[in-house]
This record gives sequence, structure tokens and C-alpha cells, in this order.
Amino acid sequence: MLLDQHGRQIKYLRLAVTDRCNLRCRYCMPEEGIAFADREALLTYDEILLFCGVLAEMGVEKVRLTGGEPLVRRELTTLVAGLNKQFPKLAMTTNGLLLPRYLDELMEHGLRTYNLSLDTLRPERFERITRRDNFAGTYNALEMLLERGCRTKINVVVMRGINDDELYDFVELTRDNDLDVRFIEAMPFNDDDGNHDVFLSYDSMRLRLLERYPDLSQNERQGGSAVTFSVPGYRGNVAIIPAYSRSLCGTCDRLRITPRGTLLNCLYSTRGLELLPLLRSGIDRDDLATLIREFVYGKYASGHETERREQQGNIFASMTSIGG
Ligand code: GTP
Ligand code: 5AD
Ligand code: SF4
Repeated sequence: MLLDQHGRQIKYLRLAVTDRCNLRCRYCMPEEGIAFADREALLTYDEILLFCGVLAEMGVEKVRLTGGEPLVRRELTTLVAGLNKQFPKLAMTTNGLLLPRYLDELMEHGLRTYNLSLDTLRPERFERITRRDNFAGTYNALEMLLERGCRTKINVVVMRGINDDELYDFVELTRDNDLDVRFIEAMPFNDDDGNHDVFLSYDSMRLRLLERYPDLSQNERQGGSAVTFSVPGYRGNVAIIPAYSRSLCGTCDRLRITPRGTLLNCLYSTRGLELLPLLRSGIDRDDLATLIREFVYGKYASGHETERREQQGNIFASMTSIGG
């Protein structure tokens, strides 16, 4: 079992397989991209599976593939097939553009749970937010996921003055569809205070939802990064993710690994355990397990605490260097 110093059992790995992406969302990356990792700087699939095998033995149950956009990494389905043998629960966070090409194969390998990033329902706004004109691509992915019966959540990073007038349109998607729509606080990234000017807090979003939906009821929490609500009579759920307020850290059961193979205890970490040199020096599995155990034990109580102890400001250029 993998336990931290606060007695939390770590059961969930967020595995970032690439820092590259086929979009350039304004809250995430600058137009020109970031200094992407070279191929040799990424963990190979064999290295990932070796390390994941050790985590699975220690009780990690769920792996979420993230990025960057995970599907831009070559032959990702090979990795998914391997992970499917190790973990009972697999999930992916994606912008969906490459899903039509890979969905059947991914589903064959046990991947039926998807968080889809879609920040607007207005085609003309999509380009303003993502700097690429492909609303149809992501919307098509949404329809495909629902048709195939995949467990689907839509991630909406809420930005004041950019898409915050669409909250109710997104909620209406949950009327007839069995999906979750999740409104996310924008985190400052890719320069010191990149997203502060558009930030809308958890509380403000909740109040806005209650204005239109006074019967909105809060569901019992099942852990995870979101507080979930439902509108009576609607098939799906609505949720808010306090990614920046960090009010849900107390039940955090997550560990993350960056595309370059740094193990992180928190989204707000700036220090981690560098796995790449360990794996490339042929470290013994038991020694690796011991190092991981010691590292995870040191996980701080919350993202605020991590920030206080480890850093002033964020050293990562983008969410894609961490994996969200
Ligand atoms: P599930 O609970 O497995 O559905 O995943 P998730 O909602 O955490 O994952 P997803 O990749 O869809 O991320 C949605 C948003 O939550 C992103 O903005 C993430 O950065 C944020 N998020 C994910 N994990 C954490 C976390 O540990 N702490 C904080 N503060 N935010 C997180
Ligand atoms: N703040 C909040 N969410 C972000 N994401 C990417 N960058 C940010 C940010 N700065 C979201 C993406 C994706 C998830 C992994 O993280 O929209 O859905
Ligand atoms: Fe790509 Fe996701 Fe970043 Fe948008 S938020 S640029 S889809 S990695």
C-alpha cells in the first residue's frame, strides 16, 4: 500500500505521455508552443510499464492518460494495451481531435472513460480559445463518445469575458445526455499570472448556477477533483473544479508523472523524483519501490502547502509539462 504522511492511500496515477499538443489553448500554451521535450527525454513505453507495474503492486488502481494531448504520441494504443493488463481502471483526458482514428482500438483495450476538453459550444469562439479552427473536430468526438456509450465528462475552463456567458448552455447539455459538464477554475500558467485577468472563482460559478437553477442540488462527494451537482430531472451532472482554490485537497489520492519522467505528489509541486535516470540505470524493482514509497510519504496536505513549501511561482511553462 502507498501511504502519505497524512494517512491518505495513493490509488490514482495521472500519467502525462507527451507535452505536445495539436491545439494551443490560450490558458495553456503560447502560440509558439513551449520548449518541448526531445524524444530521448521522454520515458519510453517499456519504462512506463515497468514503473507502472511497481505502482500497481502497491495498490494504484487507476491511471488517467494526460498530456499535452495524449493521442499525439505515436502508437499510444500499444501503451494502453499494456496498462490494461496492470490496472482495473483506465481513463484519458483529451481534446478529442484524434479520437475518430483511435477510439475503437482504445475501447478494445479497456479505455472507455474520457474527459473531453471543450471550452465553448460556439464554433466561432473555438478558434479564439484554442488558436485552431476545429470546433467540428472536438464536437464530433463528443458525439462519438456518447454514441459508443463511453463515460464522458466535458472539461470547460471558465474564462471571464471569453466563455463565462456559456455556463447555462453547457448545463443544458446535461438535460438529455448522460454526461458531466465540469467548470474549471483557470490556473495561472505560462507566465507569472497568465490567467488572473480572466479568473472566475468556484464561488462565483456556483452562485451563477444557482441564479438560473435554484433547485440545483449538491451530490455526495466521491473524492476526485470536482464538486458535483445536478439539476432535478436532468440526465447528466454539472460540476465545478476548484483547481486554483484547492478546497478539495484533503481527500487527494493522486500521484502524477510528467512526460519527462518526474514523479510529482501535487499539481503545484516544483520538485519531484526523477525516474528517468533511475530507470535507465537499470534500478532494481524493490529499490524503486522503496524510493517511491519514501517520496510519496512526503506528500503535503494540500496544494497551498505544497506551494508554500516548495516554491515561489510556478517553474513549469505550461500545464502540458505536468499533465494537468
Ligand atoms: P477524474 O477525477 O479522474 O475525472 O479526473 P480529473 O477531473 O481530475 O482530471 P482532468 O484531467 O479532466 O482534469 C480536470 C481539471 O482538474 C484540470 O484543470 C486539472 O488541472 C484539474 N486537476 C486535476 N487534478 C488536480 C489536482 O490534483 N489538484 C487540482 N487543484 N486540480 C486538479
Ligand atoms: N487552468 C485550468 N485548467 C487547465 N487545463 C489546461 N490548462 C489549464 C489551466 N491553466 C485543463 C485542460 C484539460 C485539463 C487536463 O486541464 O482544459 O481539460
Ligand atoms: Fe492542448 Fe489541452 Fe493545452 Fe489545449 S489545454 S493546448 S488541448 S494540452
